[in-house]
Amino acid sequence: MMTSQEPMVRVRAFSKTFYVGLRRKPSYAARDISLEVQPGEIFGFLGPNGAGKTTTIKALLGLIRPDQGELSLLGHAISDPAWRARVGYMPEHPTFYDYLTGHELVTWFARLSGVNRIDAEKEARALLERVGLSQAMNRRLRGYSKGMLQRTGLATALAGSPSLLILDEPMTGLDPIGRRDIRELIMSLKAEGKTVLYSTHILSDVEMTCDRVGIINKGASVRTGRLDEILGQTARGYQVVVSGLGPEALARAAAEQAEAEVREGKIEALFTERAAAWDFASHLVAAGGVLERFEPHRDTLEGIFMRSLATGEYKE
Ligand SMILES: Nc1ncnc2c1ncn2[C@@H]1O[C@H](COP(=O)(O)OP(=O)(O)OP(=O)(O)O)[C@@H](O)[C@H]1O
Ligand SMILES: [Mg+2]
Repeated sequence: MMTSQEPMVRVRAFSKTFYVGLRRKPSYAARDISLEVQPGEIFGFLGPNGAGKTTTIKALLGLIRPDQGELSLLGHAISDPAWRARVGYMPEHPTFYDYLTGHELVTWFARLSGVNRIDAEKEARALLERVGLSQAMNRRLRGYSKGMLQRTGLATALAGSPSLLILDEPMTGLDPIGRRDIRELIMSLKAEGKTVLYSTHILSDVEMTCDRVGIINKGASVRTGRLDEILGQTARGYQVVVSGLGPEALARAAAEQAEAEVREGKIEALFTERAAAWDFASHLVAAGGVLERFEPHRDTLEGIFMRSLATGEYKE
């Protein structure tokens, strides 16, 4: 039985090497990946192409065997089938029998979760409506667009009402409206008390939806934590923007302050120390400038993401 302390997903020091080709050249897909997802959370699993996201997700679902590491879902080891009925999975590249209709496919998934035919058909209809496919559900998958297939994949993951959803790149390849729909769907799953782990490289989606994130790079975890903490911790100094200076004064100020930049007739600079920022600002205001902005500079997830990839820092 799962206790309330048990995370929904646990990955500890997971590693996996593939041996490729005749020469069995090693490909280190995962070297040291750790993450935990607590009940009710939306967890964003971030990393550039080839970082090891899909490899980790496949190991979690028991589709590939880890070399090393401790992996569990809902408190059960992956080898124990007890978690299966409660986990929904959407693969990165869902492939379906394309002669089926969306409704037949999702019905089939619902039946696999143990529901009788009548209820499975009803559930499939409701799920397809929920993912925005009410018009197309009786057409064959062969004629679906990429976005429609992605939505169908999501509906199959939701079949059987799992408490944990593991979605591999649910938003990639969708247009802005499609992405917004999926984002909203993920938020509504959270509102229902479900737990969601999804991988992506679309940082703006993560900023809008996730409670916690795990960033991986080259097969290793580089940073995990609450999104608000990661974003809040890293107010990296003070930003000053001054307008209203003539071109000469602008050029002089930019030359004096190494990190200052002139942009659209304004001068902008970022300082670690408040006092230095104030010196700079007051100096320019005395020279006739207008102080447009003087505020703590908030880091963006993108900035943090790029820096963690560069430095490889690890933080739990
Ligand atoms: N079956 C396999 N055989 C050989 N190498 C593999 C295999 N699966 C993954 N790899 C390698 O492992 C690394 C990680 O791949 P993975 O698919 O996990 O990355 P990812 O983070 O999901 O990337 P993407 O964002 O592009 O989906 C890559 O270098 C990939 O080539
Ligand atoms: Mg992948």
